[in-house]
Formats: sequence, structure tokens, C-alpha cells
Amino acid sequence: DDVVTRMKNIEKIELGRYRISPWYFSPYPIELTKLSVIYICEFCLKYVKSEVCLLNHLRKCHYRHPPGNEIYRKDNMSFFEIDGRKNKTYAQNLCLLAKLFLDHKTLYYDTDPFLFYILCEIDEYGFHIVGYFSKEKESAEDYNVACILVLPPYQRKGYGKLLIEFSYALSKIEGKTGSPEKPLSDLGLLSYRSYWSQTLIDILIRLKPGENGDRPTMSIIDLVEMTSIKKEDVISTLQHLNLINYYKGQYIFTLSDETMSAHESALKKRIISVDQKALHWQPKD
Ligand code: COA
Ligand code: NA
Repeated sequence: DDVVTRMKNIEKIELGRYRISPWYFSPYPIELTKLSVIYICEFCLKYVKSEVCLLNHLRKCHYRHPPGNEIYRKDNMSFFEIDGRKNKTYAQNLCLLAKLFLDHKTLYYDTDPFLFYILCEIDEYGFHIVGYFSKEKESAEDYNVACILVLPPYQRKGYGKLLIEFSYALSKIEGKTGSPEKPLSDLGLLSYRSYWSQTLIDILIRLKPGENGDRPTMSIIDLVEMTSIKKEDVISTLQHLNLINYYKGQYIFTLSDETMSAHESALKKRIISVDQKALHWQPKD
């Protein structure tokens, strides 16, 4: 019966201007699973059984953006912070929606311990949800992301790395290091590896040799402090990239021409990134 409950149960959802095919099971009410489409309000994330119900809802729903506080605005991109205790219905609806694209995460009905950071694209109709990540208010393991999702119509455009970058921007303000909750999905690991690699190479590439030809020294700890990426993730990334050698009692970074040019072309592709000046946020204590 575990197998049955895990089978994909929703055929399609309609969210704003998109019809999306779910990837995995999500515990929407059983009567909705018989329909060919579930209609979801793209602003408050309430789900209804028909287009008529959605139109009725939209006449009453005054949201044109997620609840909570807007904490970031740059061009047409915006982030909202939502407290899972204060905006429980929204948070639960978001978790239900996210579960459609997450295989392995437990669904948290208890959203109280979490904050949710919603990325939106703004146009004349309102703030359209692109993706989000959740974060425990208190994490004993230094996790700075619990779940992370970019909705399928927006995937593979760099928004995943934008969300990841944003999670580290918050950690920097907190003066902490952070790491995503494990296990990561395959796509999650790909995205983190890519973000970590680019972020670290970007720093190492700037270390120009001094007059005596020596590269300025930089320790793992320096990298951790500059990026807020947890030490284990810094080390595993440098090892994965084959950038780190232990020589005469210390770590030496070696940047091959190959790595440099791969990095340069990756940076050219990267169009969106977090602007710290557009982030207005203080950790709550
Ligand atoms: N196949 C191969 N590579 C992929 C990929 C895919 N389907 N999707 C993303 N990538 C790679 C990209 O090439 C990019 O690397 P690069 O810039 O070095 O080329 C990197 O992953 C990040 O891409 P980006 O466009 O920023 O990611 P995204 O917006 O597609 O979002 C996720 C990434 C993981 C958030 C998204 O796939 C998702 O929501 N998946 C479902 C939920 C999930 O698994 N979340 C993580 C749980 S831990
Ligand atoms: Na996740």
C-alpha cells in the first residue's frame, strides 16, 4: 500500500498560464485525483476542482502576490518571506504543490518551524511564482535550505542557482555557514555542484600571482568565510573539480587552463544573480 500511495495521482495542474504534468505523488484530497486537471490559484495556491470554481475564487481572492513580506526586488524579480506559522494555509498549499515535483522529501504538514522564500516574476497582472525554498527557523545541523523547487515551466533557466545563491546571501547576513538538507535529489545535487563550483572558482581565479610569482595563499576557511558554504561542501567541490592538492603540509589550489575557460563560458551563460543591495532582510532572534 506504500507503493500505491506513492504512485503519481494527479494528471495535470493548471497554475496561472501554465498546464503542468506532475512528476510524483502528492496528497491532494482524493476526490480531486479523479479529475483530469486540478486548478490552482497562482497567487494564494488554493486548489479547486474546475475552471468555474477558479474563476469564482479569483473574483474573491485579492492576492496578486504571495502573503508575507517582500524582502528582495531587482528588475522584475522579487522574493517574499513567509512564516509557516503565520501563513499556514499558504505554506501547506505550497508544500502540496511542491510535493508534485519532489520524490523523497517528507511532506511537512507542520509548517510552523519553517520559513519559505518565494521567488516571483512580476508583470502587469501580478507576482507569478517561479519557485521557492524552505528553511528551518532553527537548524541544529546548519541547514540553510530544506526543500528547493523551480516549477517545471521555469526550469533550466538559472532560477535554481538564483534560489541557491539567495539562500547563501541570507546565511551571509546571519554570519553563518549553511548547507542543503540531505538527501539531495539528482537535480538538486547537479544544481548545488554547479553553484558551488562556480562560486569557488570565481574567487580562486582572482588570486593573481604576486611579484615573486607565488599565488597569495587562501585557506579552506577563507573560502568558507567568503561564501558561507559549509566546509565539507567546499572541500568536496574542490576535490570533485580536482582543484586541490595537499603539498608540503598545506592545501594548494591548481587552476588548469581548462577549468578557467570552462568557468568563463559558464559565467557568460549566467544571466541572473542576486544583488545584495536589493535584499532588505534581518534575521529574527
Ligand atoms: N538535466 C541536466 N542538468 C540539469 C537539469 C537537467 N534536467 N536541470 C538542471 N541542470 C543543471 C543545469 O545545467 C545547471 O548547471 P550548469 O549551469 O552548470 O549548466 C544546474 O543544474 C542548475 O540549473 P538551473 O537552471 O539553475 O536549475 P533549475 O532552475 O532547473 O532548478 C532544481 C534546479 C533542482 C531546483 C529543479 O530541477 C527542481 O525544482 N527539481 C525538482 C525538485 C528537486 O529535485 N529539488 C531539489 C531537492 S533536494
Ligand atoms: Na528538497
